[in-house]
Amino acid sequence: MSDSFVRVARLEDLGPGEVLGSEVAGVEIALARDEDGGVHALSDVCSHDDVALSDGDVEGCTLECCKHGSQFDLLTGRPLQLPAVRPVPVHPVRVDADGSISVDPVRSLAGADG
Ligand code: FES
Repeated sequence: MSDSFVRVARLEDLGPGEVLGSEVAGVEIALARDEDGGVHALSDVCSHDDVALSDGDVEGCTLECCKHGSQFDLLTGRPLQLPAVRPVPVHPVRVDADGSISVDPVRSLAGADG
C-alpha cells in the first residue's frame, strides 16, 4: 500500500479550535483542530464559492466559512447549513507520537470526491 502522507505541521502549532491553511503537494488544505483536540483536514476551498475555509472559524466539530457562514462538518465535509449545499473533500490525517501531523492529499475519506 502506498503512503502518500505529507508532514504539514506539529501539534503545538495548532491549538484546539484553531485552523491553518497550507498547500500540500499542490492541494489546498484547511487543517483544523476541534475543541476536543481532534485534527481534521478538509479541502481549503468552500463548495459555495472560491473562498478559503481556513479563513473561517472552528465551532465545535465544524468549520464555518468566513464569507456566508456555512458550517462544514469536520468529519464528513458536509455543509450543515445554507448557502453551501455540496460537501468538501475530507483527507486522512495522521498524528505521530512525536507530535507531527501528516495529511494524505491524494485520498479523500468523504465529501465531494468520496
Ligand atoms: S463562500 Fe462559503 S458559504 Fe459562501
